[in-house]
Amino acid sequence: MSEKILVIGACGQIGSELTMKLREKYGNQNVIASDIREGNDELMNSGPFEFIDATDKASILMVIHKYGITTIYLMAAMLSATAEKQPKKAWDINMNTLLYILDFAKEKIISKIYWPSSIAVFGETTPRIDTPQQTILEPATVYGISKLAGERWCAYYHQKFGVDVRTLRYPGIISWKTPPGGGTTDYAVEIFHKALSDGKYECFLSAETTLPMMYMDDALKATLDVMDGPKFDTYIAYNVAAVSFNPKELTSEIQKHLPNFTISYKPDFRQKIADTWPQTINDSLARKEWSWKHEYETSDLVSVMLENLK
Ligand code: SER
Repeated sequence: MSEKILVIGACGQIGSELTMKLREKYGNQNVIASDIREGNDELMNSGPFEFIDATDKASILMVIHKYGITTIYLMAAMLSATAEKQPKKAWDINMNTLLYILDFAKEKIISKIYWPSSIAVFGETTPRIDTPQQTILEPATVYGISKLAGERWCAYYHQKFGVDVRTLRYPGIISWKTPPGGGTTDYAVEIFHKALSDGKYECFLSAETTLPMMYMDDALKATLDVMDGPKFDTYIAYNVAAVSFNPKELTSEIQKHLPNFTISYKPDFRQKIADTWPQTINDSLARKEWSWKHEYETSDLVSVMLENLK
């Protein structure tokens, strides 16, 4: 049977570009985009679209039956900063929807799931440099708690019911097509917009706050690669890493293109979140097991971002 894919949260930062990549690969009619809101023209006009509230199990099931969906990419989530403001709602969106989808796979209504996790599963007690695949996981944010619980649910369904679910722990994702929303790493996207429009940027993290980041094309490649490989023997939420930088270092890179660009710092509540996250990630397992390799270094992603946003 050929794959019929449903992307839930297709209009978000990652979902919108992932949907287009999947349409390129599997054919436009085989990839159904869904979200609670409309997306950009490219997404809306290139293939099927359905309005889905990710917390509404019945409407997800209806779309699964309507198209004969085999695979779901569950990209709808409330990110770290927004989730702190609406903890219960974040839990609902980030967790209940995953459980619906896992149940659909357990009941053999669908056969394969992609569900992203995050560097937010790590916490204050985790080693922050070269953070290992297996380590202490004591997240301090609602978002991190939901991602950690989600990982454990995926492992449980994989082991108990043979559910084929695959996961990457994304770092901050840098892209220019669709803006991110509600994340702690979002400064590293905003900064490019402001550098070009205003020549200056007030950063909500401090100068020295180093975080792991990745350019969108690398994140998409990692996602397709992990979905293409054979089913895992054991469920692993893979660490994947590309680059790490802090606002000061990113500013210097931007200044190579825009010498007059200036930055000022006014850390807010997101600083506390960032302070509990890793600075660099050890992703040697992904590199070894499915030959993961990033392409974009910091200087590359800065050039691409500025080039495309100009
Ligand atoms: N980019 C996310 C956030 O900042 C981390 O997964 O919330």
